[in-house]
Amino acid sequence: MKETIQNIKGTKDILPKESYLWLYIENYIHNHFSKFGYQEIRTPSFEKTDLFLRSIGQETDIVSKEMYSWIDQGNNKLTLRPELTASVVRSYIQHQMGKQNKLHKLYYLGSSYRRERPQKGRFRQFKQFGLEAFGSSLPEQDAEIIYMAYSLYKSLQIKNLRLKINSIGNRNSRKQYKIELQKYFTKFKNELTEASQKRLKINPLRILDTKVDFEVELVKNAPKIIDYLDLDDQKHLESVLYFLKDMNVPYILDPYLVRGLDYYSRTVFEIQTNTLGAQSALCGGGRYDYLVKDLGGQDTPAIGFAAGLERLIMALDMDIGNKNPDIYIVSIGDSALSYSFNLANSLREKDLIVLTETIGRSLKSQMKDANRLNASHVIIIGDDEIKSQMASVKNMTTGHQEDVSLSKIIDYF
Ligand code: HAM
Repeated sequence: MKETIQNIKGTKDILPKESYLWLYIENYIHNHFSKFGYQEIRTPSFEKTDLFLRSIGQETDIVSKEMYSWIDQGNNKLTLRPELTASVVRSYIQHQMGKQNKLHKLYYLGSSYRRERPQKGRFRQFKQFGLEAFGSSLPEQDAEIIYMAYSLYKSLQIKNLRLKINSIGNRNSRKQYKIELQKYFTKFKNELTEASQKRLKINPLRILDTKVDFEVELVKNAPKIIDYLDLDDQKHLESVLYFLKDMNVPYILDPYLVRGLDYYSRTVFEIQTNTLGAQSALCGGGRYDYLVKDLGGQDTPAIGFAAGLERLIMALDMDIGNKNPDIYIVSIGDSALSYSFNLANSLREKDLIVLTETIGRSLKSQMKDANRLNASHVIIIGDDEIKSQMASVKNMTTGHQEDVSLSKIIDYF
């Protein structure tokens, strides 16, 4: 026997047993975002590597160790997108969207790729859905985005939702904070991991995101960014919180929430649930008021979030199976078989799900299959039925069976 080939670690086949639920949730997301006037954008799965280096940041885990990058035959440095924000910003600038309209509200659903250590809720290919709003720096835009994320999970009845929020200020207020953080962590420099020692010099905020136990303890006494915000940042945060409270969205102000990507400014947030194990984040996002300009566009404030679809599906704990057939046509004999194909095609024009026989089974086996698939009705056609122009129709729920003229059978359903 030849050796079989398995899928790559950290990737996942979505089999028919599950795929209908995926489709249902994807439609739910399209609907939910559309209700707020957001429009879908689709961008390519791979981009120039530089796009991610310049947006996500060199010292982040994503860029320093998780990207799938390669050099193609034309010597181009390319990367499978590890997230979609950078691509959406690239597209926003490239298509000069800012010139057409002051405000752009976009959403997306697409695969992302990160070479992380696979575990429950953490994959190397995963599907992200999210949205980005370009053009408004006002707190009501932050509140709208956060409400859209929160209400999606709430309406799908995900339990134990925790919305964590923080402000990491503008670039100026963060400068002073960085100095204070450096002072604080330098006291423990020799105890820090090699990665954190490196971050201490370049980007000490990244240390706040540590998962190493003793560093987590150090973070508990570190200076808080909130004490370094300037008046405008403070007012912005207060207004965002006011709107959330007004819309009955409960939140936890977490002074150490910094998020794992470098492009953020002011508002950052995450929605977590305790039903997912170690990977508790359902979604995360925040404001990135400098990114459009940093990537060569006009000065444009923006905010967004993204979420893992796998994690949402896991948290749902829902099994809706697949759609059952409306009609299963059991056919016996050659002329019955070709008649059944045409009949099925006409019935499908009425949006019915109709199955026909393609593996030459006996009447008994076909009936058994109709039962297994939970078909609502079975039509039985043999060569005799073709001659008499009558077919047997069985309602599989009630067991009632009757003869129906073939000329009336389409209207019958
Ligand atoms: P992120 O926090 O890196 O943010 O990812 C957002 C969400 O994607 C996470 O909360 C999680 O649900 C899901 N996710 C991330 N990595 C994995 C993985 N390896 N396996 C399964 N799910 C995963 C961003 O990507 C930003 N672009 C969010 C954003 C949009 N900020 C502003 N706009």
